[in-house]
Amino acid sequence: MGGKLIVFEGVEGCGKTSQMQLCSKWLESLGISVILTREPGGTELGLYLRNLLLEKSENKPVAEVTELLLYAADRAQHIEQELKPSLAAGKYILCDRYTDSTIAYQGYGRGLSFKLIHQLNDIATAGLESDLTIWLDIDVEVGLSRKRKGETKLDRIEQETIAFHRRVQQGYADLAASNPSRIVRVDGSLSRETVHQMIQEILRVHLKGLL
Ligand code: TMP
Repeated sequence: MGGKLIVFEGVEGCGKTSQMQLCSKWLESLGISVILTREPGGTELGLYLRNLLLEKSENKPVAEVTELLLYAADRAQHIEQELKPSLAAGKYILCDRYTDSTIAYQGYGRGLSFKLIHQLNDIATAGLESDLTIWLDIDVEVGLSRKRKGETKLDRIEQETIAFHRRVQQGYADLAASNPSRIVRVDGSLSRETVHQMIQEILRVHLKGLL
């Protein structure tokens, strides 16, 4: 049996990390072998790229197209080194961010060309789409205030303007509306346990017969 690629998406502070952990524990309790990974930073090379991308330094500004290319490079490496072999081994991959993040952040957020983003996503993924993407939808300001409480220093992208984060949020809303069978919205403002129960239900419906 082939594996599955399940992606978690959303604006900063939407709760992806803790939901992925709960989901992984649940799937493992059903005897399913799970890989938890993320973009950027799911490989050793990707970790270097993640630091370059997220470190905030006035002396080392990152040009917008450079940023886009670095996310694409991270993705290409991640797919070759991690995603393809794990899928071939029949694993369930829970991936923190994937191609929709690039559309939302670099496309809607930065205003870069959607055509260019799609081309780079196609090159990096060689057509590998998620089987299911869970969009944890939370108000941008609520998410950012969660981040501010939990972390001492916000990273380069978290420090962007509220208007930038609102555009990213609009990106997710548009993506969900145009990909209703692949992207499922979950209200990320609900309690951790309620969100987890909703994700279980979504996975049961989408992976019918497998869970
Ligand atoms: P996170 O993994 O902690 O959520 O943070 C990764 C950051 O990188 C987050 O601010 C979103 C951003 N990002 C992009 O801008 N484009 C991308 O393609 C990806 C994967 C992430």
